[in-house]
Amino acid sequence: MKWLDEKDILRLGRSLIGAVELREEVGSTQEVARELAAVDAPGGTLVISRRQAGGKGRLGRVWGSPEGGLWMSLLLRPDFGPELAPRITQAASVAVARTLIGLGVEARIKWPNDILVGGRKISGVLAESNTIPGENGPRLGFVILGIGLNVNLDPEDLGLSERRAASVRGELGRDVPLAEVLSCLIPNLETMLDEIEDFRDTLKDLRELSDTLGRRVRVRRLGEVVEGMAVDIDPEGALMLSTRSGLVTLFEGDVERLRGV
Ligand code: BTN
Repeated sequence: MKWLDEKDILRLGRSLIGAVELREEVGSTQEVARELAAVDAPGGTLVISRRQAGGKGRLGRVWGSPEGGLWMSLLLRPDFGPELAPRITQAASVAVARTLIGLGVEARIKWPNDILVGGRKISGVLAESNTIPGENGPRLGFVILGIGLNVNLDPEDLGLSERRAASVRGELGRDVPLAEVLSCLIPNLETMLDEIEDFRDTLKDLRELSDTLGRRVRVRRLGEVVEGMAVDIDPEGALMLSTRSGLVTLFEGDVERLRGV
């Protein structure tokens, strides 16, 4: 299957993508993007690798990244303040979910940033940022938006059972060229990242595409466990849980679905 072409990707990017780094194998595209950021690479630099030997997931987890998946990190240098950085993850999750739906895969978003198909994870988003002092208070130096999407691989290639992971190939019964996936994903990302400051439409999408709302869940965060019914996503993208001791608003955490709902 054809690997990617830098010029084709640049053509898709319009205002979002300014430079493309295609690699055969890296430790993690997040790390490559971080190194590029350190030598003043501009926002809009996109790193894609055919394989990652040390793919990173959220909460220090390992992200299996064999050939066939889309493993990418986009360096962003946003103008807005660090308080809006968490929205980038959620905006990107909507872009990935829309892309999958466009391909015919019924994707849903498990708050805050897992993309699931039938309860199995098909994609994850990881945004890492650094904050630096600015004239008017702290500002974002950069954000590295990492997206991992299981495309042309089988869940066993990840060392996971089919019950835990999904892939585009597994869902559609055919391979989809990564160039085709990017031709939907990049315009979707561009649209969603333009709506970070006015987040109202994204919130609507997050609610509509949510796999979490209306379910009883257990959320682990910072050594604490909270259980309740996921009732809403607030204007900041936080998850609102109705618990025995009242309404709890969560800005981060790892969600586990409880049986029965
Ligand atoms: C998660 O769900 O835990 C987030 C997974 C993010 C994986 C992607 S793959 C491309 C980029 N490089 C990495 O090492 N991680 C992200």
